[in-house]
Amino acid sequence: MPRFKTVLVTGGAGYIGSHCVVDLLQVGLEVVAIDNFANAVGDEEGSPALRRVEEITGKCVTFYKADLLNKPQIAQIFTKHKIDCVIHFAALKAVGESMQQPLLYYQNNLLGMLNLLEVMRANNCYQMVFSSSCTVYGEPEYLPITENHPTGKITNVYGRTKYFIEEMLKDLCAADMKWNIISLRYFNPVGAHPSGLIGEDPTKEFTNLMPFMAQVALGKKPVLTVFGSDYNTPDGTGVRDYIHVMDLASGHVAALNLLNTNHVKLKTYNLGTGKGVTVKQLVDVFEKVTKTKIPLKYVERRLGDITAMWADPSLAKRELNWSTRYTVEQMCTDFWRWQTMNPDGYPKKNKTNGVLNGNS
Ligand SMILES: NC(=O)c1ccc[n+]([C@@H]2O[C@H](COP(=O)([O-])OP(=O)(O)OC[C@H]3O[C@@H](n4cnc5c(N)ncnc54)[C@H](O)[C@@H]3O)[C@@H](O)[C@H]2O)c1
Repeated sequence: MPRFKTVLVTGGAGYIGSHCVVDLLQVGLEVVAIDNFANAVGDEEGSPALRRVEEITGKCVTFYKADLLNKPQIAQIFTKHKIDCVIHFAALKAVGESMQQPLLYYQNNLLGMLNLLEVMRANNCYQMVFSSSCTVYGEPEYLPITENHPTGKITNVYGRTKYFIEEMLKDLCAADMKWNIISLRYFNPVGAHPSGLIGEDPTKEFTNLMPFMAQVALGKKPVLTVFGSDYNTPDGTGVRDYIHVMDLASGHVAALNLLNTNHVKLKTYNLGTGKGVTVKQLVDVFEKVTKTKIPLKYVERRLGDITAMWADPSLAKRELNWSTRYTVEQMCTDFWRWQTMNPDGYPKKNKTNGVLNGNS
C-alpha cells in the first residue's frame, strides 16, 4: 500500500474496528485508534482488544480514549498526528435501544459524525470510509439488493441515523469537491479473527444472533429465541447475508486502495457474500462445527424485522476488486474458537481492587 500513511480509526476498540485494524497494520499503515468504550471493554490504560491486535500483528497501535461528542478532544488528536484518512466505525448500533432512546442515538451518531467531519475539514483531511448498513434499504423491493435499491423506508431509529448520515454525505460531497468518501453498507457481520485472540465482546446488552447462540452453546443462556417461524422462506425463519468479519476488514483495505488512487467524490458499496442463509440453517451449521446442541424457542415475529435480505456484491467486486473468502462453516468455527478461548470475553479490570481477572 500506499500514499496514505496514517489512518484514524474511530470505534477502533469495537468488534469490526479491531478486526479491521489487524488488516490495516498488516498492509503497512500506521493506525491511530480512538474509542470512548461506550460498547467496548477498556479504560484509561487502553483497550485489551487492541493489545491483542498488537500481539497478532507484532505492530503498535496508537490509542486514545476519546469521545466524538467532545470536539476539542478530537481536534487535539489531529494536531498530534497527520491523519491521511479516517475510517469511521464509531456509533451506537443496538436497534432496540435506539427505539427507546432516540435522542441518544441521534446525538451520538449524527453529532459524532458532524464533529468529525468539521475537524477533518479544519485539518485538510478529506478522505473517509464510513460504516453504513444494509438497514438503510428497509424491506427489500427485490433481491439480491443492489446499491441503487431505494433507501429511506427504515423501521428503526438506528437505521435512520445511518440513512441521515448518508444523505448528509451526499450534500457535503456535492457542495465541496475536495471530499473523497466511500460508504460501505455492511450486511450481517459474524465470526472472529482465526487466531481466537479477538472477537465480539460488547459491553451493552446484545441480541446479535451469533454471540447469543455461542452463549447458549456454552450453557450461559438457556435457550436461543428465534423471532418468527412463519416467514415465506425455505424453513420459515428470516434470511440474512452473513459475512465473516475478516472479509469485512479486507473490504476496508480495498476501499482505502480506491480512495488512494482515485477521486471518487462519494461512492457506496454493499459488503456481503451474495448468499442468503436462514436463521435455522445458521444454527444447524453452528451445531455441526461446534458439536453442541442449541435449544431453540420459536416466538412471534418482531415488529420491523425483515423477511429476507442479501446483497448483490458485484459492484464491490468490479470496482474495489474485493470478494469474500470465508464460508459459513468458517464463520462459526472462528467465532466458536474466540468464545471458547475467551468465555468471559476480554480481560476486565476488577472494579474493587484494580486487579485483572479473566484470561489475558
Ligand atoms: N455489527 C453489525 O452488525 C453492523 C452492521 C452494519 C453496520 N455496522 C456499523 O459498523 C460500525 C461498527 O460496528 P461494530 O459491530 O464494530 O460495533 P461496536 O459497538 O463493537 O463498535 C463501535 C465502537 O464505537 C465506539 N463508540 C460509540 N460511540 C462513540 C463515540 N461517541 N466516541 C467514540 N467512540 C464511540 C463504541 O465504544 C464501540 O467500541 C458501527 O458504525 C455500526 O453501526 C455494524
